[in-house]
Amino acid sequence: MGALAADATVEERLGPSSLLWRYAGDTRIAFLGGTIGLLQLMHPAIAAGVLEHSNFFEDPADRVFRSLPRILGAVYDGDAAAETGLQVRDFHRSIRGVDPVGRRYHALDPATFWWAHATFQFMAEQVVDRFDRHRLTDAEREQLYQEGVAWYRRYGVSERPVPADRMAFQAEWDRICTEVLEMNDAVRFVLDTLHAPLPPMRDRAAMPSLLRPVADHPVVRRLLARPSRIAAIGGLPASVRERFDIRWTAADQVQLDVIERTVALTWRRLPPTVRWQPRAYEGWQRELGVAP
Ligand code: HEM
Repeated sequence: MGALAADATVEERLGPSSLLWRYAGDTRIAFLGGTIGLLQLMHPAIAAGVLEHSNFFEDPADRVFRSLPRILGAVYDGDAAAETGLQVRDFHRSIRGVDPVGRRYHALDPATFWWAHATFQFMAEQVVDRFDRHRLTDAEREQLYQEGVAWYRRYGVSERPVPADRMAFQAEWDRICTEVLEMNDAVRFVLDTLHAPLPPMRDRAAMPSLLRPVADHPVVRRLLARPSRIAAIGGLPASVRERFDIRWTAADQVQLDVIERTVALTWRRLPPTVRWQPRAYEGWQRELGVAP
């Protein structure tokens, strides 16, 4: 780690021609929401922060849904993106305390804040690798990573823990999955929740307006429960599932493969207002007058 390979030109390119714009605000990130929520909560400091400072047990998905527009704003807000990033950082100044076993935590501790961001970079890359027909070249994978570093820079939090390149990111990702993540009450609660029908979603800011009329229908919520669980558990690194003994069968894997392939083959037929998250859609409209 240490010196960053990303330079000012990456920051300049962080617009409509970037790979980050192409993938970070794509509504297919919804298939990764459960996975990144779990990976964040497995970090002891994030679990402690969320349990002490949010309405987690009443509505475990609320934090993710409420934060998403501004997280994407730090990518898509154009001239205002840096300001959005700083607002996100400042929101976390008071999220600090001592966890149940006596460890101090602060959301803005660089290693903690960066892990949350690392899961968003993972999310953008996984959208392509698993839910799209495009295959990233090594150069594109590196570019997407460096653009994610420029995204992180907009939060104005210390870059000390940020790996210099995609290969170093992988090493650090694997180390955290093996040495830092842990099973805790917040994670157990989410794993249990994944067996119930989906919570009401119509009024979440991240819900594309076209889907709102059907989002809360009890049949839809029940039908989507199993694929959501499969996507959430199946998206976890296999090493994490094994470490925490999270059940995953060959039949689950077949279902996940079907979901991924179906999404990859059919996604382009959906209208842009569904394919893009509202904040990303606004960015495309502003910059190009049309969303791709
Ligand atoms: C890249 C890193 C992070 C980003 C981009 C981010 C983003 C956000 C945003 C935008 C909100 C505001 C939600 C709203 O509008 O109400 C929020 C809330 C929150 N964040 Fe973060 N966050 C990050 C890291 C963390 C970390 C590391 C922790 C915990 C240690 C944390 C804990 C919380 C909590 C507890 C809330 C309050 C939720 C509530 O009001 O119920 N966040 N986050």
